[in-house]
Amino acid sequence: MDTERHGALILAAGKGTRMHSPRPKVLQTLLGEPMLAHMIGALRPIFGDATWAVIGHGAEQIRAAFATSSLHFVEQKEQRGTGHALMTALPELKAAGLERVLVVNGDMPLLTTRLVENFLRDAQGADMAIATLNLPHPGAYGRVVRHQGRVTAIVEAKDYDVSLHGPESHEVNVGLYLFKVDVLDDLLPHLSDANKNHEYYITDLAALAVARRLLVTGLECGSDPNLLGVNTPAELARSESLLRHRLIAAHLEAGVILHMPETVAVGPFVTLEPGAELHGPCEIYGASHIASGASVGPHCLLRDVRIASGAQIHPFSHLEGADVGADCRVGPFTRLRPGAVLEEASHAGNFVELKKARLGRGAKANHLTYLGDAEIGAGSNIGAGTITCNYDGTHKHRTVIGEKAFIGSNTALVAPVTVGANALVGAGSVITHDVPDDALSIARGRQRNLEKRNGKTSQQ
Ligand code: UD1
Ligand code: CA
Repeated sequence: MDTERHGALILAAGKGTRMHSPRPKVLQTLLGEPMLAHMIGALRPIFGDATWAVIGHGAEQIRAAFATSSLHFVEQKEQRGTGHALMTALPELKAAGLERVLVVNGDMPLLTTRLVENFLRDAQGADMAIATLNLPHPGAYGRVVRHQGRVTAIVEAKDYDVSLHGPESHEVNVGLYLFKVDVLDDLLPHLSDANKNHEYYITDLAALAVARRLLVTGLECGSDPNLLGVNTPAELARSESLLRHRLIAAHLEAGVILHMPETVAVGPFVTLEPGAELHGPCEIYGASHIASGASVGPHCLLRDVRIASGAQIHPFSHLEGADVGADCRVGPFTRLRPGAVLEEASHAGNFVELKKARLGRGAKANHLTYLGDAEIGAGSNIGAGTITCNYDGTHKHRTVIGEKAFIGSNTALVAPVTVGANALVGAGSVITHDVPDDALSIARGRQRNLEKRNGKTSQQ
């Protein structure tokens, strides 16, 4: 196997009618990642970039969602069955010089690298291998028919005929196959759509192969029915819950400190160092990384963030695409948007929003502030209610604040604008011109205390 060129093909062109959603089924998410991403995650360690997906329904959406991945796409314009999907992809697989191909239904987010590795190992030597499961209630799944222990066919539940196929077994087809590519080349032209659905079934290849005396191996891979495809919202929810348990158990095992772990959700591509501490309920998704000694409080939602050691994320904070340095304090109730960078020991407090903004080392913005397209120097203090006015209705502009500056409360910084190092801006200022280093700048209506006339305040 190792010396042969192998690849994987994910069948993902179907509509997923039973999800009742306009979104293609493989883009439905579990723990913040599309189903297809879970599958690629399981296959990549084995197949690297030699992974193809057959897409059709919602093809443009799928291409867009995976634009930055190395996944190759084949388009199946009309969805005429799983066998037809394979026919559509075969020229590409041959052009890539594959000798064997693992084919898998696109709706199996619980697939694991280990399961595929075991399957490949046991499938050595077979012309076609099929993963199977034994179920007490085989329901609508394809039935594996054996004769004297050897697989002779897979028959879809709808087409099963006891008089033709014998008493029904409990062994079902999982939707995971291994084929020699030259075998596919020989057999695919012989598939027929003479069945109840008028589709070309991949499963019919088993009987075709047996008729040619090829070696068809049926490999049982446990009895967990959850491995089988996700077809409905209920199955999606169950799979997501199982996946969550699986990942949480692995993080606990690895030494991550989880409070109320039953209420913590962590995505499959998140990395948590042993000694990172999470308080449930909280959700952490994307390619987030949390270092040992960092803590995330309850009711936080984090996506694609890096949290360094000693940083504390207090409750009810929403962080996306942010980089939080060592020993920073964030929250409660902070929003960090993409491009927010907090350097070491800086603070962003309650009702503070940052977007494409950097807080220098030890800088503080503790209350009610918006910093967008901004650079805040080390050790500066941003007073409560400070707003960077970064948008003029057409363009975004930058605000740059030097080191150790002090911005008084309720200041509007009308960008583009620069405030120098050690400058002090008086509370309530509207800053429209640059402030030099070390200057005191006040830009607001001057207060006048006037004498009352006839016991009333004079009108000015
Ligand atoms: C399929 C198997 C069945 C097996 C079950 C396991 C066939 C004929 N039957 O049934 O034996 O027990 O999976 O879950 O294969 N797809 C395409 N193009 C198409 C049709 C489907 O790419 O024209 C994709 C779908 O997007 C899906 C996968 O193939 O990811 C399986 O299709 P689906 O319709 O879900 O097959 P099942 O009826 O579940
Ligand atoms: Ca299915």
